[in-house]
Parts: sequence; C-alpha cells; structure tokens
Amino acid sequence: MSLKIAPSLLSADFAQLRSEIADVERAGADWLHLDVMDGHFVPNITFGPPLVKSVRKATEMFLDAHLMISHPAQYVASFIAAGADMVTFHIEAEDEPREVIARIRGDGAQVGMVLNPDTAAERLEPFLGELDMVLVMSVFPGFGGQSFMPEVLPKIARLRELGFAGEIEIDGGIAPDTAVQAVAAGATILVAGSAIFGKPDRRAAIAAIRAAEQQDQMAG
Ligand code: DX5
Ligand code: ZN
Repeated sequence: MSLKIAPSLLSADFAQLRSEIADVERAGADWLHLDVMDGHFVPNITFGPPLVKSVRKATEMFLDAHLMISHPAQYVASFIAAGADMVTFHIEAEDEPREVIARIRGDGAQVGMVLNPDTAAERLEPFLGELDMVLVMSVFPGFGGQSFMPEVLPKIARLRELGFAGEIEIDGGIAPDTAVQAVAAGATILVAGSAIFGKPDRRAAIAAIRAAEQQDQMAG
C-alpha cells in the first residue's frame, strides 16, 4: 500500500470551499477527509450531508467521511447518497456495529471503524474481517489543531497481529515530524487538517508530510 495523504476539510476556509478543495487536489492530495460532528458524540458541530453533496460536485477525489456522531446507523445512508466513498464510524458510538457495517456495504460504500485514543484495538477484533480501513485517533475527536498522542501508535502493530490487512489511517496532530512516527508505526493513510489547510502553500505542506515515507525507507 502506498502512503495516502488525506487533508481534513475541517481546517479549510468554509466560505471558499470550492477553491480550497481544488487547491489541495492540485497539490497532490489523495483523499479528502470530511469530519462530521453532531454536538452530542463530540462537543463540537461541523456539517452534514448537504455539504458533502456540494463537495461531491466540486471534486473527483475519494471522499472519506469520518462520522463523529451518535446513532450512525440512522445517518449512513444520507452520507452515501450525498457522495461519500467511505464511511467510518466509532466503535464508541454504541450502535450495533454489524448493522452499521451492513448498511454502509448495502449502499455501496467502503467501511471503516474508528478507535478513540483510550479504546483498545481488541474492541475491533470481531469486525476486522469486514472492514476496508481502521482509523486510529491520535487525539480525542472534536477539534482540529490538537497535539499528537504517540502512545496510540502501538495499536497499529496490534491490529496487524490481530490479522487486519486493510488500510490503517491515523488522524489528529499529524505534521511532518509526527508523520514520520506514524509511518514508522505502520500507518498507511495520514489525515492532516491544520498542517495542510493552515499553511499558505498546500503543495509544500503535503510534500513535507509525504516525505515521512522516504525517511521511513531510509531508516530501513
Ligand atoms: C479531530 C478530527 C480530525 C482533525 C484533524 O476530531 O477527526 O480529522 O480535523 O486536525 P489536525 O490535523 O489539525 O489535528
Ligand atoms: Zn477526522
């Protein structure tokens, strides 16, 4: 799996979304990460399916919808209808995971599950065979711009020991220095909000994060 960079739209200028999206697409982004927050599962509110629908019209990029919401089973169909290519939901969200997985698959999208920093990798063991991706949170979800938590990194190796062969995404506090640690630990997709949209030169910002892959190969 080659390393993918997924800018998080949360740190973009929401009044200029079309140009912000085009800018990171031209700058070499692989996926676009969409942070959906409901003010209930996390203490912040962002956006819902209508915005995803507009984003879908503005780009061909793969849309990775990270649902930080309670009752994901009730909402996944709306996000997929709006154009999400992958839907990830939190194991902590308390809906029956098999039901949520079945709904996402039934509507033709890829499926991911998310672990908060204080949730063990083993919690996903019963579901790993059904997932395209696991998202390991390296901050507590809710806000961009928080500090990276290196103590979550051993979960990546643990997921491989448990037999998971899909993509492993990491999200929260990723910048060029922490990206090196994440790639060394085995992450295959790096989400970055403030370290990309917070910088004026998005091409340079993405290249600096992607360089983690070369540094990892040099380290052997
Ligand atoms: C946190 C979100 C992240 C966030 C990342 O709740 O899931 O995707 O936007 O932002 P940075 O990269 O600034 O930590
Ligand atoms: Zn996210």
